[in-house]
Amino acid sequence: MASGVHAAADGVAALGISPAGGEWAGPCPALRRNLHLLSHDQVELAKMLLNEGQGHLFEHWPEPGVDDDKKKSFFDQVCRLNSSYPGGLAAYIQNAKKLLAESKAGQNPYDGFAPSVPSGEVLTFGDDNFVSLEAAGVKEAHNAAFVLVAGGLGERLGYKGIKVALPRETTTGKCFLQHYIESILALQEASCKMEGECHTKIPFAIMTSDDTNALTIKLLESNSYFGMEPSQVKILKQEKVACLADNDARLALDPNDKYKIQTKPHGHGDVHSLLYSSGLLEQWKNTGRRWVLFFQDTNGLLFNAIPSALGVSATKGYNVNSLAVPRKAKEAIGGITKLTHVDGRTMVINVEYNQLDPLLRATGHPDGDANCETGYSPYPGNINQVILQTDILEQ
Ligand code: UTP
Repeated sequence: MASGVHAAADGVAALGISPAGGEWAGPCPALRRNLHLLSHDQVELAKMLLNEGQGHLFEHWPEPGVDDDKKKSFFDQVCRLNSSYPGGLAAYIQNAKKLLAESKAGQNPYDGFAPSVPSGEVLTFGDDNFVSLEAAGVKEAHNAAFVLVAGGLGERLGYKGIKVALPRETTTGKCFLQHYIESILALQEASCKMEGECHTKIPFAIMTSDDTNALTIKLLESNSYFGMEPSQVKILKQEKVACLADNDARLALDPNDKYKIQTKPHGHGDVHSLLYSSGLLEQWKNTGRRWVLFFQDTNGLLFNAIPSALGVSATKGYNVNSLAVPRKAKEAIGGITKLTHVDGRTMVINVEYNQLDPLLRATGHPDGDANCETGYSPYPGNINQVILQTDILEQ
């Protein structure tokens, strides 16, 4: 207790306030009046929030004695948000400010880059090349691990449940998750048959979020994991991040609870840091997994193409392989594009459809994103299906 008081007093001094209760020179009198309720660590977090221009979070705080537990639990949430983002909340807010300022100024993220069509394999369903790549992929599948990103809310779909529970087709009503699991199990069986005596269980990780975690586990458990061994499935829950209220990256308070910061899932990119920080990636590497295949929650056709795509990765030795689909020019789907910078840097990335056409026009392609002789844009459509070779991971 004594140390708590001492810690708080330290914190008060660190905020530039007289611990004896002298004149408050800081920006937030409501916080100052409540400081003695907070631990040293909480005062440090309060300092950080004030430094980052977040004084509005405390403006409504009443006198000590009113809602004290809620004030403390506000800081429990701040502490969680702070520890779940690399570099903490300060880095999160600073990144947000930078990105918002760049976007407000209309800064072109592709300044200095020239787009061109990336090289890749074009597969034609059923021809000899396709069939032999497919066989190579099936053979390799027992060395793979699958990762489904399923933490999204599906706000645009306007559906309240989890997307993986939706029927993938209407004749049987089989849901996406069942289809995915059965496809992985079918690959596992076919791959092991090709290898002779092999008892590999292909690992399957699912990234969920607070919005989808409980329902995903319930769907799995109430269906006996659709035939997969429960130990094959690993659930990784992503943390949410704070919502921003405006262009100054001021954190948004929950409209239903003014002692809570409003939060949302952070996007599917979290999967990479989660695989790393959970140790799963290392475990997979150590147990001979050569490939990690990432896919999304509602792509019902994907597994038709997975074996041949894995076959391409295996036979070409690709470290990174992005499976793409034919795309009509200007179609509202990102295009896989090679970018070459004037300084010589190159990268192959997804350029969003609303940026691809202006980028092409600005770099000597007066027709912008136009169909070529195939009837499609030469920039294939991104479906966020990526195959990574584990050798390159963690470098
Ligand atoms: P979408 O772009 O479809 O976003 O996600 P969404 O959040 O699911 O849907 P909207 O935008 O609210 O309408 C693409 C994939 O990324 C996953 C989704 O579950 C989907 O498989 N995702 C998205 C996550 O895993 N986490 C997130 O925070 C966001």
